[in-house]
Amino acid sequence: MTISRVLHRSLRGAPPPVATGGHGVWLQAADGRRVLDASGGAAVSCLGHQHPKVVAAIQLQAGRLAYAHTSFFSSEPAEALADALVGHEPGGLAYAYFVSGGSEAMEAALKMARQYFVETGQPGRGHFIARRQSYHGNTLGALAAGGNAWRRAPYAPLLSHAFSHVSPAFAYREQRAAETEADFTARLAAELEAEFQRLGPDQVAAFVAEPVVGATAGCVPAPAGYFRAVRAICDRHGALLILDEVMCGMGRTGTLHAWEQEGIAPDIQAVAKGLGGGYQPIGAVLASARVVDALRDGSGAFQHGHTYLAHPVACAAALAVQEVIREEGLLAQVQARGALLDQRLTERLGNHRHVGDIRGRGLFRGIELVADRATKAPFDPALKLHARVKAAAFARGLGCYPAGGTVDGVQGDHILLAPPYIIAPDEIDIAVDRLGGAIDDAIASLAA
Ligand SMILES: Cc1ncc(COP(=O)(O)O)c(C=O)c1O
Repeated sequence: MTISRVLHRSLRGAPPPVATGGHGVWLQAADGRRVLDASGGAAVSCLGHQHPKVVAAIQLQAGRLAYAHTSFFSSEPAEALADALVGHEPGGLAYAYFVSGGSEAMEAALKMARQYFVETGQPGRGHFIARRQSYHGNTLGALAAGGNAWRRAPYAPLLSHAFSHVSPAFAYREQRAAETEADFTARLAAELEAEFQRLGPDQVAAFVAEPVVGATAGCVPAPAGYFRAVRAICDRHGALLILDEVMCGMGRTGTLHAWEQEGIAPDIQAVAKGLGGGYQPIGAVLASARVVDALRDGSGAFQHGHTYLAHPVACAAALAVQEVIREEGLLAQVQARGALLDQRLTERLGNHRHVGDIRGRGLFRGIELVADRATKAPFDPALKLHARVKAAAFARGLGCYPAGGTVDGVQGDHILLAPPYIIAPDEIDIAVDRLGGAIDDAIASLAA
């Protein structure tokens, strides 16, 4: 076996197959395999692979200007992308700060919130409230914000105590049998209010949440009224609301921003994956005029920065991705194809004895696997069912995004589907058929 010098995600066994090409929802490997990419990697490839308009935009920009440092220059693609994203000030978001991915976007969002309070004479506000079972990235600040036990555990001594965590808005696991949806929302809101009181309401900078929880819980939307209640609590206490739409944003749930379906808007938002669709590494912080004006009127600058801020080729790629989404009417398509995917999943897996829940919005769907549907008991985590499903799906030519720790960061298994917005109905059928087979293969392998 030839030795790969790439430090891969798994350091055991053979290195992963080499991907050599892509077209639409399909990925091609050097060994001849064709894989239907039903999760866009990790909810990234929203337009699928090798969209000609995006490829052309990258080529054009690379031929003109690949890089100019943002302390000297702006660039045409960065200006145009910012205009496209926040020129119409959606929900009051008026400025865009371009970084290279989701973790960088969350780090910048946290620092921007903190600096806002330093500039406005509230230096005591240094605490952030987030939620258990959330993921905000793997850099140390973002990891500290996240509430996912297994990702945090090895790095616990390095994680800031500026973050505390309240319950996730995760109905399948957290809503009590005697509670209505409204009761559940009220209980979660009361818990958040109590956390503000415990910390001292004037010590809290922001509440941080994913509108639809992605990787750690498997496409979990909040109960009705939850984000309205959260917004009201933040406003009452003068704290900011930071929404992490790195995974669920940029059209994934059927609206450009997931918060549009909640009747609220954040003060600061992080986006990434669907922004550039994987064509270039790019993320962004979208910030309200209130926040940016405070920085401008105070020290006059956001005290942050990276070498590759607003990279021209990355911005050109993201601009082309966003134009394609608009020109090809893909938000409506996400809604329609998302409903079809949900229907097909329900037909194939709704009565499966080991499928506890099928959930999500748009083309962002999670399937939670359970040992016992009646009790919702998860499988023994030592069985690593999620990894078995991933391997079985890949063997059937399907890329999906399973993960463990769904219940509490240790127990539980789910599969996340986030196919490209351009997935065709017959490709949805293929994906669901292969996934159903893979789940059956994986469960059968437990007996062996
Ligand atoms: C909600 C959320 N926030 C942040 C991140 C981190 O993004 P990245 O992996 O680009 O650093 C992710 C990645 O999966 C995510 O899902």
